[in-house]
Amino acid sequence: MKEHVPKHIAVIMDGNGRWANSRGLDISEGHLAGYQNIRPVISKFAQLGIKYVTIYAFSTENWDRPKSEVDSILELAGSVIKDESNLMGRENIRILHAGDSEGLPNSLRSDIEQSVEETKNNTGLTLCVAFNYGGRGEIIRAIKKIIREGIEEDKINETLLCGYMYTHGIPDPDLIIRTGGEFRLSNFLIWQSAYSEFHSTPVFWPDFGLKEINQSIVTYRSRKRRFGRR
Ligand code: IPE
Ligand code: IPE
Ligand code: MG
Repeated sequence: MKEHVPKHIAVIMDGNGRWANSRGLDISEGHLAGYQNIRPVISKFAQLGIKYVTIYAFSTENWDRPKSEVDSILELAGSVIKDESNLMGRENIRILHAGDSEGLPNSLRSDIEQSVEETKNNTGLTLCVAFNYGGRGEIIRAIKKIIREGIEEDKINETLLCGYMYTHGIPDPDLIIRTGGEFRLSNFLIWQSAYSEFHSTPVFWPDFGLKEINQSIVTYRSRKRRFGRR
């Protein structure tokens, strides 16, 4: 399997709410189950030889959900990032954050910053956590920075813009997996996904396991990527 695996897999971890509903559980239980599924999936990706994984955990649009749900996600995220970054650190995983940290509660922001700092010298899989992330907002932020730095018009090209994204230094995703059955990006990596392969599975994120991982790699390997060429 190691030969033809994607270098970068990005995952839209969708379906926590429906997973909870289908079991008669509270929505927060769905998010908890979702968070608990992150580490086993990342470990498996690491074993398969995947170098970069980006996970969509909270979008800038998700603030519009009921306050009780948002509060439960923020609280869970804080405890999970602390526990998981220790464990992932031991697995040589490097954690990065993509998203607007200014808009997060102070404690969560510092937990995220700490996990990034503590794992910065790890040389295994890079896990980029998209939290309070929106692709359109990311592009606007990049443009503002470019203007603020007084960059001349003829210096502006795709490579330069890439350097102003949250994901600078990370190759574009080869494969985007969406759980929960929808076929849309929901404002995820809209700049970076220009030539990404897309795989949607109806399985809800908390149930996404080995079988689905293998299926998504098999699907990826069956695709012929052309990048516009003949
Ligand atoms: C994804 O699960 C997690 C977040 C968006 C935070 P959802 O909560 O969107 O699950 P569904 O789509 O309602 O089932
Ligand atoms: C996308 O899921 C965001 C995350 C998984 C974090 P949503 O549930 O927010 O997407 P829509 O609303 O179905 O497009
Ligand atoms: Mg959803």
